[in-house]
Amino acid sequence: MCGIFGYVGGRQASDILLGGLRKLEYRGYDSAGIYVAGAGVVKAVGKVVVLDEELLTTPKVGTTGIAHTRWATHGEPSVVNSHPHTDSSGKIWLVHNGIIENYQALKTELQVTGVTFASQTDTEVLAQLIGSLYQGDLLTAVKQALARVHGTYGIAVMAEDNPDQIVVARMGSPIVLGVGTGEMFVSSDPSALLAHTKQVVYLDDGEIAVVTAGDYNVTTIAGEARLKAAETMDWDATVVQKNGYAHFMLKEIHEAAEVVRNTTRGRVNAKTGMVKLGGLEDVASKLSAIKRLTIVGCGSAYYAGQVGRLMIEEYAGLPVEIELGSEFRYRRNLGDASNAVLAVTQSGETADTLASVRAGRERGQLTLGIVNAVGSTIARETDAGVYNHAGPEIAVASTKAFISQLTVFVLLTVWLGRQRGMSLIESTEILSALESLPAVIEAMLADTTAIEIIAKKYAASRDMMFIGRQLHAPIAYEGSLKLKEVSYIHAEAYAGGELKHGSIAMLGPDFPVLAIAPEDAVYAKMVSNIEEVRARKAPVILLTTENAPGADALADDVLYMPKVHPILQPIIATIPLQLFAYHVGVARGLDVDQPRNLAKSVTVE
Ligand code: G6P
Repeated sequence: MCGIFGYVGGRQASDILLGGLRKLEYRGYDSAGIYVAGAGVVKAVGKVVVLDEELLTTPKVGTTGIAHTRWATHGEPSVVNSHPHTDSSGKIWLVHNGIIENYQALKTELQVTGVTFASQTDTEVLAQLIGSLYQGDLLTAVKQALARVHGTYGIAVMAEDNPDQIVVARMGSPIVLGVGTGEMFVSSDPSALLAHTKQVVYLDDGEIAVVTAGDYNVTTIAGEARLKAAETMDWDATVVQKNGYAHFMLKEIHEAAEVVRNTTRGRVNAKTGMVKLGGLEDVASKLSAIKRLTIVGCGSAYYAGQVGRLMIEEYAGLPVEIELGSEFRYRRNLGDASNAVLAVTQSGETADTLASVRAGRERGQLTLGIVNAVGSTIARETDAGVYNHAGPEIAVASTKAFISQLTVFVLLTVWLGRQRGMSLIESTEILSALESLPAVIEAMLADTTAIEIIAKKYAASRDMMFIGRQLHAPIAYEGSLKLKEVSYIHAEAYAGGELKHGSIAMLGPDFPVLAIAPEDAVYAKMVSNIEEVRARKAPVILLTTENAPGADALADDVLYMPKVHPILQPIIATIPLQLFAYHVGVARGLDVDQPRNLAKSVTVE
């Protein structure tokens, strides 16, 4: 949520800053701005491309600068509320990701001393506070200001009279340094650094660093020295390019087979029925002793957690509950140390998910993560975990990360199951099916025209309902979320049997229903639910498995998917729903990669 980029070195900063912002745009795109030392500031409302155009007419020449792309929290998207913000003297320049919670009190205090404010933002308060404390030493002034701040921040600050350094600090919102040769970079996200360097330094909460062209020096805000060596990112620069696809979302959906391969690589032995999860080995004995697992997540990760819950309970016999990150953290009775908390998160930075991990830890609970972003806060703060290895996900609506999360849950189910009495036959069946899954996905993705045709047919709908049962109830929720995100169509989802308890009242000829009904143990029940829908004259799109009995006659439109092991079926069922949402969004002429009002990484609470 909000992207920060900084550069100090020997090259022209503005091009590098714009390049960084383009990569970070998925974090928010309400406005963008850059400050280049010696040349001043440029800001523009809207996407980075608007700032790009502004810079053509007012180029900024200089070799050090900071930049920001904003997802508005305090104050509407406008030039005045855009970052970088400055103090009354115009000397201090600041970009910020996060929320300063006591900004109102600090603002009043500064106003009493005669400071006037140009914007409605909490960030300007921090810039003014630093300005009021600045006496030529930026690091000292930033430290003093941060000592007075409550809230979350990732910041990059510059002083006009000290143009060769950037001061960065982190509390809750990520800051990563990129180490180049004779140049240094600052970013909210390591993927934006890939074009320049693979050497990165992740700041931890409470740390502050002075970054110059040839060096970086990290301490705690309280002044303790920190020795932080650079780590090497193992991503390739091509993963953050579209590679011929019209959109990142489409590219990432088409990566599903590769994602399953990467998520399972080196972890599966179908012959012995065993799963190896290196990240859990150290806590294996603790995990075998837990009485209950609480999965937490937000958005798509929450729905992946719902599927995971059903998988683990059904196949591994461990009691599991699933909670929204934004709810769990505020609960009073979170259970005792016999509970473990499992955070599911693509970014590893979602504020509410992180707070839930911390809440569990405070109660002495084992904390675990299923995290995609290597080195992210949740990956580092949890006791143990499993990396997704899905690679960077650029489109705001999650697709491949969701597929990978479901895949990790299959692995985790077998891993936990074997600890808790799952039979060898069952585990080898699941794992051999998992090994064949990438080929099945590839075959399915080879021809997606049927989905595109049906998506176009329903693209003008105002409302839509998704239904499914058991493992496919959460998939219905995720399908509906995907459609809302990229098409802005009002969509809802229900477990098939629940529809008749109220929501069926909405249905009629203008309210299509997408039913996910593979031929499985509840197929007959889903058929009944579909009949109930048809009796209300609502059009039905049926997503079912090949050769499901009676499917052709059951719906207005039928999409067939391959039938796989029941625990893997939700992975297969997700892909047509992602493609359906994508094609509806495209047919409606929308920006599917960066839908309105959204941000990919939600680091505010
Ligand atoms: C945002 C994104 C969603 C994502 C959710 C959780 O709302 O738009 O796509 O599912 O955050 O993100 P996480 O990084 O924790 O998986």
